[in-house]
Amino acid sequence: MLDWTTSTSPASQRLEPALADNPLDGTATENPPAESRADPSTSRLVTAAPGLEPIALGAARIQVDDKRIINCRADLNQLVPFKYAWAWEKYLAACANHWMPNEIPMAADIAQWKDPNSLTEDERTIIKRALGFFSTADSLVANNLVLAVYRHLTNPECRQYLLRQAFEEALHTHSYQYIIESLGMDEAEIFNMYREVPAVHDKAAWSLPFTESLADPGFQTGTLQDNQRLLRDLIAFYVVFEGIFFYVGFVQLLSFGRRNKMTGTAEQIQYILRDESMHMNFGIDVINQIKLENPEVWTASFQQEMRELILDATELEIRYAHDTLPRGVLGLNAGMFVEYLHFIANRRCQQIGLAELFPGAANPFPWMSEMLDLKKEKNFFETRVIEYQTGGALSW
Ligand SMILES: [Fe+2]
Ligand SMILES: [Fe+2]
Repeated sequence: MLDWTTSTSPASQRLEPALADNPLDGTATENPPAESRADPSTSRLVTAAPGLEPIALGAARIQVDDKRIINCRADLNQLVPFKYAWAWEKYLAACANHWMPNEIPMAADIAQWKDPNSLTEDERTIIKRALGFFSTADSLVANNLVLAVYRHLTNPECRQYLLRQAFEEALHTHSYQYIIESLGMDEAEIFNMYREVPAVHDKAAWSLPFTESLADPGFQTGTLQDNQRLLRDLIAFYVVFEGIFFYVGFVQLLSFGRRNKMTGTAEQIQYILRDESMHMNFGIDVINQIKLENPEVWTASFQQEMRELILDATELEIRYAHDTLPRGVLGLNAGMFVEYLHFIANRRCQQIGLAELFPGAANPFPWMSEMLDLKKEKNFFETRVIEYQTGGALSW
C-alpha cells in the first residue's frame, strides 16, 4: 500500500501575510500575524489556528475578494459577505432536512428481529456487519472534521456547513446506537467490531492516517506539498470514505426495506443516505474550489496518485462486499457489488475531474438514486415540523 502521509514543511516556508486597507487613515496595514510560539518539545514554530489571530482594532471591513478557501488571511469570524453560495445553500438545505433517529418507529423491526423465523442467519449477519462498520465509522468522520479539516478550511461559510455536518455525524452515531439498543443486540459486539472483524477493521484503519496527518499540530497548509496533503485528506474522506465505503452497507440495509423487512432500520438509513450524499457533494465542491484557486496542486502525478488511492479503496470495499455477502441474499450477490463499486468509483473520479478507472461500468442498483428522493415518503417531515414549532414556544 502507498504511504499517503508525507511529512510537513517547516513553518518558515508559509505564505506572506496579505495587506489590508486601514479604514481610519486609508493606508494599507498588514493583517496581524497569527500568534506564534516555539514548541520546546520539537523546537518548531507553532502558529495559532486560522481564526484565532488577534482582533485588530481599526482593521478594514471584509471584501468578498479577500476570501479564499484555504490559506486565507481575512478575518474568519465574519460570516458575510458570502463568497461560496454553494456552501451556505448546503448549510440551509441540511437544516431544512433535520431529523432525529428516535422519531422513526422501530416496533416492526423489533418484532422481526425477535422472531426466529423472520430473518435467516445470513440476513442477520449482514445487518450486524453493516451496523458494526457504521457504528464507529461516523465517529471517524466526525473526528476528521473537527480535529483535522475544520482548522485548515479558511472560509466561514464552509466552516458553518462543517459544524452542521459534525452534528449530523453525531445524529448518525445516535441512529446506529438507537437501532442496536432497540433490537436488543449485544452492544459491545457491534461497537467493537472494527477491532474484531478484519473486513470492518481494514476500512477504518485505511482512513485513520489521513486524519493523523492533518491533526498534527505542526501541520499547516501554504506550500504546494502541504496544500496537496489537505486535498488528499479531503479526497480520502469525502470521496472515498463517505462516497464509496458507505455504499455496500447502504445498499444492503436498504434492500431489506425494499422487501418490507426491517423497515424502521431502512428508513433511518434512508435519512442518513440523504445526509451523506450532501456531505459528499459539499466535499466535492470544496475539492474543486481548492483546485480552481490553486491550480498548481493538480499536477499529473498528484492526479495519478489520487486515482491509485481511489482504486485501492475500491478494491478494499469489494473485499468487504465479498466478506459480508459470501452467499446470495435478498436478490444481492457479491458480483453485483463489484459492478456497482466500479460504477461508483467512475462517478467519484468524474466528479473531481479524474479519468474514469473502469470505463463502461453500469449501475446494477438504479433504485439507489430513488432512495435519495424522500418527498414521496409518508408525512414524516410535516408531522415533525409542527411538533418542533410547538416545542419552540418555550415557557420559562
Ligand atoms: Fe454520517
Ligand atoms: Fe457524513
